[in-house]
Amino acid sequence: MPARQTLLLTSLILAFSAAQAETAAETAEYGDYIDWRVLGVSHRLEKKYVRAIVGNNTAIHAGREGKTLPWPDGSIIAKLSWKEKVHPRWPAAIVPGEFAGAEAMVKDAKKYAATGGWGFGHWEGKTLVMNDENATATCFACHTTMKDNDYVFTEPAFKK
Ligand code: HEC
Repeated sequence: MPARQTLLLTSLILAFSAAQAETAAETAEYGDYIDWRVLGVSHRLEKKYVRAIVGNNTAIHAGREGKTLPWPDGSIIAKLSWKEKVHPRWPAAIVPGEFAGAEAMVKDAKKYAATGGWGFGHWEGKTLVMNDENATATCFACHTTMKDNDYVFTEPAFKK
């Protein structure tokens, strides 16, 4: 192949890989919750997960003010899970390993009246997808344990 053609081909390939890398970074992985603030953390012994529970601004303000009975409409709480991992240099420390997903509770008292005012969902990459009726029933059944706490397990870590 003549040198000029090889050069052209090489630059085309480079341009193509750069475009692909950009797309991968843009479409990647995490939803808005990566910028949200902490409501709580948990370590589920039976599931071997560590978790961060974070909230959007509405949820964070409600948590800090102690106005969570009920949580106001517009609150979104995200439960972020990682597989537990033993810290390589300190075996007594359990730290986040592989990311295992993000689940959501979205407060809208009218829209989700049938399930305590909460919609249950999960993030697929950047997109928050609300669960169908069957999946929601499973979520709601367990969260009903916390009915007297507006169906929420997490006690906000920071209060004014
Ligand atoms: C077997 C019981 C159980 C089921 C089923 C369940 N959860 Fe939970 N959920 C919990 C517990 C316990 C917590 C407290 C924190 C933790 O688990 O790390 C929690 C916490 C949460 C939180 C953080 C707010 C809070 O209540 O503390 C969200 C969001 C959440 N779950 C979403 C869901 C969704 C969505 C589903 C259904 C796909 C679901 N949960 C199903 C037990 C359950």
